[in-house]
Amino acid sequence: MVSLPGLRSRKTVPARTPGELDAMAAAGSVVAAALRAVQAAAAPGVSTKDLDDVAETVIRQANGIPSFLGYHGYPASICSSVNDRVVHGIPTPEETLAAGDLVSIDCGAIIEGWHGDAAVTFGIGTLIAMDDALSAATKQSMEAGIAAMIPGNRLTDVSHAIETGTHAAERTYGRKFGIVAGYGGHGIGREMHMDPFLPNEGEPGRGPMLVVGSVLAIEPMLTLGTTKTRILADEWTVVTSDGSRAAHWEHTVAVTEHGPRILTA
Ligand code: MF3
Ligand code: CO
Repeated sequence: MVSLPGLRSRKTVPARTPGELDAMAAAGSVVAAALRAVQAAAAPGVSTKDLDDVAETVIRQANGIPSFLGYHGYPASICSSVNDRVVHGIPTPEETLAAGDLVSIDCGAIIEGWHGDAAVTFGIGTLIAMDDALSAATKQSMEAGIAAMIPGNRLTDVSHAIETGTHAAERTYGRKFGIVAGYGGHGIGREMHMDPFLPNEGEPGRGPMLVVGSVLAIEPMLTLGTTKTRILADEWTVVTSDGSRAAHWEHTVAVTEHGPRILTA
């Protein structure tokens, strides 16, 4: 007989030792530095390829390896997803940023075999209020998920917290947001993408248990319209099916006895 994963499972999200968490935090701080440098460099006329070069330089100067580069053939060190791009946008020299663009940058690095993975969303110059609300709502959803990273919670308690955070933001901003279907967070450690998959919505109380040392990459993606996406001919870039704008925030987060620890801070 095969047991269904999830329900009443005694499985846990794999636990890292305190020393391993420190190693992951070292990788995570390189990712955070790369994202800060990218955001500082982003301005009208700058290309997304320029931003990729900035990130790769920061990672390599820290003796890190850009984890995205070569991942299933992916050709860059960041994903740059502008406006209606949701995730996995490929940086190019032709794509230059303009005032009012809504830019999501996702980045990963490996230090001594351990991975960090994080994403931020920001505007080029001043954003219109709607786009500002979209990014803030997505960040708040991530933060709600992070707050659920406590021992004894189950995987979908984090999913439910992310969704609850999205609905709270909908009340704050007086509008609906689309929770992107089919994409979510993930386990992470000596590989970037590990089990379990972490949905960004759903009923609480299911899936493997969080224990001290469990690590998840928490990454809500919201839109100003649809939940549906399609993939461009480059076979990577995920865009909203209705052309609405999207935002993406991500941190790699550990469960500790003192509360959630953001490893990509
Ligand atoms: N880091 C992304 C995620 O958050 C995945 C990037 S896939 C790559 O899970 F191919 F672009 F690296
Ligand atoms: Co991720």
